[in-house]
Amino acid sequence: MNLQDKLKQLSQQKKAILAANFYNLETLQAILSAVKEENKPIILQLSESSINYIGLNMAVSMARTALEYYGVEGWLHLDHGGSLDLVQRCLEAGFDSVMIDASEQPMDENIRISGEAVRLAGKYGANVEAELGYIAKLNQAQNHSGFTQPEDAVRFTRETGVDALAISIGSAHGFYKEVPKLDIPLLGRIREAVDTPLVLHGGSGIPDAILEQAIQNGITKINVATETKNAFMKQLKKELTYTDEIDLRIVFPKATAQAKALIRSKLRIISN
Ligand code: 13P
Repeated sequence: MNLQDKLKQLSQQKKAILAANFYNLETLQAILSAVKEENKPIILQLSESSINYIGLNMAVSMARTALEYYGVEGWLHLDHGGSLDLVQRCLEAGFDSVMIDASEQPMDENIRISGEAVRLAGKYGANVEAELGYIAKLNQAQNHSGFTQPEDAVRFTRETGVDALAISIGSAHGFYKEVPKLDIPLLGRIREAVDTPLVLHGGSGIPDAILEQAIQNGITKINVATETKNAFMKQLKKELTYTDEIDLRIVFPKATAQAKALIRSKLRIISN
C-alpha cells in the first residue's frame, strides 16, 4: 500500500502512525527493531542535515535494506524539505514521501511551492506533506499568531492537492521548557473543515494523554526526533564516564537499546 492510502485509511479510522527520524545505523536499528517487536508500521524520516551527513543514496539504501532486513511495513519520508530541488533529488533517489516546507513564505507562495511539489511527486506516485501555519523550529518559542486557521487549511489543501498537512496547534520542535498545550478545539475545527490527513510535528516531550487526545481529534501522523537522539546520547554519555572501552560495538548497543525502548513506548501510544 502506498503512504497516501495508508494515511487516508488511518485518518478515517481516527488512528495514527509514528514517523521517527533516524541519524545513523544505530538509530535506524533502534527504530526498526522496536517496530518489529511491536508489529506496527513506521514512517522513517530523514531531514536535510541527516541526508547531508549520511549521503543521499547511502541513506536511501540503508533505509530500504533495513526495512527488508527487519521485514516490517514502512515508508521513507523527507522531513522539512526546504527546496523543490531537494524534493526532486529525494524523489529520484527513491523516497516514498516528501515534505515541502515553505511555511515561512506568505500563503500564496507556500501554495505555489507546495503545489509544484505535488506536481513533481505525481510522476513518482509519492506522498506529499506540506506545512501551513508556523511550527517553531529548534530553540524558537511557539506563538499563537502562527497557528493554522481552518479557512486557510481549506484553501491550501484545495489549491495544492497535498496528501498530508502539517498544522500548527501549539507543538514545537526540540525540548519544551514547560508542558506543551495543544489547541484541541482548533484541531477539531481544522479536521471538520478538511479531509486531508493531518500531521503533528514536535511530538517529543508531549505527554501521552495529550498525544492520545490529538489522535482522537484528528491527527494521523506524529513526528518524533529529539527524544530518540536524547535517549541514545544520554546513555552513551553515561557509559563513557565509566568505561575506557574503545570497541564501539560494545559501547553503542546500550545506547541503541535506550533509543529502542523509547520508540517502543511511542509506538504503543501513537500507532495503536
Ligand atoms: P521533535 O523535535 O519534537 O522530536 O520533533 C520532530 C519533528 O517534528 C520532525 O519534523
